[in-house]
Amino acid sequence: MLVMNPRPILALAAITLLFPLACSGETPAPGNGAAAVDPLLGLPKPELPVGFSEAKAELGKQLFFEPRLSASGKTSCSSCHFPEQSWTDARAVSPKDDGKSNTRNSPSLANVARQPHFYWDGRAKTLEANVEAAWKAQMGGKPDEVAAALAKVDGYAKAFQGAFNAGPTAAHMIEALAHFIRTLHSGGSRYDRFVAGDKSALSADEQAGHALFVGKAMCIVCHTTPLFTDHQFHNVGIGMDAATPDVGRQKVDEKAVLGAFKTPGLRSVSRTAPYFHDGSAATLEDAVRVMAQGGKANAHLDPLLKPIADAKLSDAEIAQLVAFLRALDGVEPFTKPVLPQ
Ligand code: HEC
Ligand code: HEC
Repeated sequence: MLVMNPRPILALAAITLLFPLACSGETPAPGNGAAAVDPLLGLPKPELPVGFSEAKAELGKQLFFEPRLSASGKTSCSSCHFPEQSWTDARAVSPKDDGKSNTRNSPSLANVARQPHFYWDGRAKTLEANVEAAWKAQMGGKPDEVAAALAKVDGYAKAFQGAFNAGPTAAHMIEALAHFIRTLHSGGSRYDRFVAGDKSALSADEQAGHALFVGKAMCIVCHTTPLFTDHQFHNVGIGMDAATPDVGRQKVDEKAVLGAFKTPGLRSVSRTAPYFHDGSAATLEDAVRVMAQGGKANAHLDPLLKPIADAKLSDAEIAQLVAFLRALDGVEPFTKPVLPQ
């Protein structure tokens, strides 16, 4: 857990309000160095690994929608990550290809390339590791068998040749999928236009919500700009009342606090209901209410939440916070791929 005094951050947040352009890049995502923030998108440029190409990403897009990647031939990555819901699936938890239920909510994939680690507990250190694990665990995928099968499909054989100068292999498929995910962004929201100087981009209520978010409500302490996450793990009390709570980050790092999960980024958050790692909050209003009360009481609750509880936010203030979060909806243009037959 990250222990820190919230005050310097609040001071920074206040400065951000006054000098938005100069300071919106002051909290770059860890892992991205001092990546410059594009003022219109409001996002730092993702680090694209050597070997990234549009052709590989385009092929990865087809594979992402391809049910032939799964054991049953019925499940694709897009079965749980829908483009229309900012790559989530509108369910609290979803069944895997083998019919067994997940225990965690499907997270958004927008801006994932800008994260230093992946999954709710950060257990995957690279996007490729995440993709391979997701393919096997969620879809019962057998990468070598699928590669051999796709090699017999003309359209795929050609696409792999174009992207990799070689036929399909498990490693190429994983790389293509990871590159596709690196192209998924949520930026250019009304909030970004506001920060870039267009004061008419946010309504009075949304501006009041923004002021609360970076001020009295102290959400900015963990949901830091530009991605609205500090990429750290905190216990905010979700699911702690279960008979055996999900240990979260502790499974990866035994020194971590019990029940700590990755702070989710909030861009396009209005599209990703239900909320929290267990999908237990049905609406954005429900989720914001939990956070605005300082999380849910339990023995391991992050102390950073105490001042939020003490601030005793009113219903009107909670509504303003929700209005502000809705203004984080990004531009996410997308056209579905045509799959080779
Ligand atoms: C059956 C539903 C399901 C399918 C199918 C599925 N996922 Fe996921 N995905 C999830 C869930 C649930 C999580 C969160 C698991 C966790 O954190 O422990 C997740 C997490 C992820 C993450 C991490 C995002 C982050 O913010 O850290 C990535 C990336 C991802 N999936 C990519 C894929 C890819 C690529 C495929 C296809 C190979 C895929 N998923 C198929 C349900 C699914
Ligand atoms: C101590 C750090 C911290 C602070 C402060 C904080 N959050 Fe969060 N927030 C988190 C974490 C961690 C989660 C995920 C918890 C989980 O699912 O177990 C989360 C989840 C959320 C979600 C659900 C997002 C999703 O995709 O599921 C919303 C909405 C949210 N927070 C809004 C807020 C608001 C509004 C405030 C200020 C009132 C706030 N948060 C303050 C750490 C924080």
